[in-house]
Order: sequence, then C-alpha cells, then structure tokens
Amino acid sequence: MRIVYTALLFVHVLGVVVWVGGMFVLHFAVRPAAARLQEPAMRLTLLSSVIGRFMSWAALAVVAILATGLAMIFASGGFRNAHLSVHLMLAVGLLMMGLFLHIRFAPFKRMRAAVVGADWAVAAANLDSVRKLVLINLVLGTVTIAIATIGRAAL
Ligand code: HEM
Repeated sequence: MRIVYTALLFVHVLGVVVWVGGMFVLHFAVRPAAARLQEPAMRLTLLSSVIGRFMSWAALAVVAILATGLAMIFASGGFRNAHLSVHLMLAVGLLMMGLFLHIRFAPFKRMRAAVVGADWAVAAANLDSVRKLVLINLVLGTVTIAIATIGRAAL
C-alpha cells in the first residue's frame, strides 16, 4: 500500500511541477522575451500558440493533481483523518482550478479567436487579462506548495 501511496504522491508532485513550473516559465521567460517582438501580429500569434499548447498540458496536470490528491486522502482514512494542511491545499487547489478553467474558457478563448480574426487590439487586451490571472494562479500555486510542505509541520 505504501508503494501505491508514494506513486500517487509522485504523479501529484509531477503535475504540480508541470503546472506551476509552466506558469513560472510563461510569466518570467516567455512573456518578457515575446514583449521584445515589435510586430503585434507576430507577438500575439506566437503567444496564442505557446499558451494554447501549455493549456493542454496544464489541463492534464490539473486532472492528475485532483485525482491523485483525492486518492491519497481516501487511501489514508478520508477527510476526517486528513491534516489541516491537506484541507487547505484542497481549498486553494480548487480555487486555482476554477481560475484555470476561467482563463481557458474566457480571456484565452477570446484572445485565440481575436488572433484568428487578426483583431490585434482585442487579442492584446485579452492577453493582458490572461497575464494577470496566470500571475494570481502562480502566487496561489506557490502558497499551496508552502502549505503542503511547511504547513505540515507548522499548522
Ligand atoms: C486540489 C486538490 C488537491 C488535493 C486533494 C491534494 C491532496 C494532497 C495530499 C493528500 C497530499 C499528501 C500529503 C501527505 O502525504 O502528507 C498532497 C501532497 C502535496 N501536494 Fe497536494 N492536493 C491538491 C492540490 C495541490 C496543489 C494545487 C498543489 C500545488 C500547487 C499541491 C502541492 C502538493 C505538494 C508539493 C505535495 C507534497 C507534500 C510533501 O510530500 O511534502 N497540491 N496533496
């Protein structure tokens, strides 16, 4: 049983690495590098393609994180036995997942449609919303990792 639990934990943490690490790279490496491209058509087409590909991997990571997280809770006696840090992780994690779905199906969807229609002003405005919301999720993700690790001893 211990091997099953640790395998679930491995997939859980792998999902976190892909999702939170991906948001870090988007915000601190891809975005500033793309900002140097003067031509809006080139910049926005590139970013729409990069973010779209990342979103697909992030969706897979979100499903894996939620499924393995819940499986670990049930494997160790259910919610009653779960440490406060796990309850907090679940709460903030669900908030992050809601925000992820919002980004994917509201501003990012609008941005992609605007890029296809060559409406660069609308695409840029929606990209700015994506940027702000991804930054919020990056901060929440970092807080969640602190809750999962430091929180286990401190709470
Ligand atoms: C939303 C649903 C989630 C559930 C139900 C959940 C549940 C769990 C559980 C049960 C553990 C094992 C705790 C232990 O063995 O002490 C765990 C570990 C962990 N979780 Fe989550 N989690 C969720 C989301 C997240 C998110 C969104 C992140 C980060 C962004 C995250 C980061 C971690 C990390 C880093 C660990 C490893 C902690 C360690 O072993 O020191 N989790 N999670």
